[in-house]
Amino acid sequence: MSYSAVDVIRVKRDGGALTDAHIDWVVDAYTRGLVADEQMSALAMAIYLNGMDARETARWTRAMVRSGERLSLDVGRPTVDKHSTGGVGDKITLPLAPLVAACGAAVPQLSGRGLGHTGGTLDKLESIPGWRAQLSVDEVLAQLRSVGAVVCAATEGLAPADRKLYALRDVTGTVESIPLIASSIMSKKIAEGASALVLDVKVGSGAFMKSLERARELASALVSIGVDHGVRVSALLTDMSVPLGRAVGNAVEVEESVEVLRGGGPADVVELTVALAREMLSAVGLSSVDPGEVLASGEAYETWARMIRAQGGDPEAPLRRGRHKHVVTAEADGYLVSLDAYAVGVAAWRLGAGRARKEDPVQGGAGVLCLVKPGEPVVAGQPLLELYTDSGAAVDGALEALDGGWSVGEAPVARGPLVIDTVRS
Ligand code: URA
Repeated sequence: MSYSAVDVIRVKRDGGALTDAHIDWVVDAYTRGLVADEQMSALAMAIYLNGMDARETARWTRAMVRSGERLSLDVGRPTVDKHSTGGVGDKITLPLAPLVAACGAAVPQLSGRGLGHTGGTLDKLESIPGWRAQLSVDEVLAQLRSVGAVVCAATEGLAPADRKLYALRDVTGTVESIPLIASSIMSKKIAEGASALVLDVKVGSGAFMKSLERARELASALVSIGVDHGVRVSALLTDMSVPLGRAVGNAVEVEESVEVLRGGGPADVVELTVALAREMLSAVGLSSVDPGEVLASGEAYETWARMIRAQGGDPEAPLRRGRHKHVVTAEADGYLVSLDAYAVGVAAWRLGAGRARKEDPVQGGAGVLCLVKPGEPVVAGQPLLELYTDSGAAVDGALEALDGGWSVGEAPVARGPLVIDTVRS
């Protein structure tokens, strides 16, 4: 069946529901270049404004999965993946993937690069000398069998419709639509072939979803698409109003992840890593394994080292920090009462840890170390933040982003829970 793109746009513009046939046709025709970017932009804006219901969203996801290949992960262990909607200092994939592999599951993490103030997992790992993000499908399968965990770039053949549409949404103000975000995330994850998926839906200033209500809505949309495609999906709603851990950037986040894998590291990073690992293990019938014990035993670090070596990296190599270091100090005695995730994320990004356009390079050594976190005492003159970059001229922009992004008060304030809720089907 063939349609006119204008007719399909009109249906959504006027608040109607797209039929399955409309959706299959328009996604396929756009992927093949038969529907023009300006037509898809108009349709994306109509969807942004008028939404899609659960049936339309599930069908849109299916059409995007079908635009490319779907991997078959027959690797001798149950497969389970994690996806985060993105946050500041969110390095959890780094300790989590080897931890869950050390617990007996296989973790395929086919990731994208960071855009904007939230960092990308591949950018972080590329700060390890020699580490290679690009793997063939055969290499992915071989590594899943031998190591149990792989973090690498998504292959070109996975959900090509989403790759094209996401780039278009990025430049047409249509990213922040729940049905479009949910179908975008789930199409890639379903195509990747894992049998179960745990989502970390971030809420707060440093996240896509600023309110709990929107985050819950996104989590429900993601879980419902999973049900429709026979993939077991659950979602943790987690706080992203404060950066996760103390390190925000690339090499600094790898260093912090290694601390966690060696049994130390910040309590919030450990808590979230173990909570997500528990959920992932339970999704594939391994709930009798205690990820906290495995983390403490050092086995997860061994799996990390093998995972890094398998992709050409040297897990023992010292990591570079940016040549310029700038320290922000406290002006008064008291307690740090706030440290805004978005401000710190933008600062790290301006220091060179992130990119503004897909093709921009990132600096492995750029980033921010949060030496003090909310709730901790400070004295006047005490260093609060360390900024690292290779471009000294970037420091002013980072300081501007941090202006008003932290505050010291006389009494400590209590923080809410890190894991706010869990949504399951
Ligand atoms: N991440 C994705 O993969 N897609 C979106 O639309 C938003 C975040």
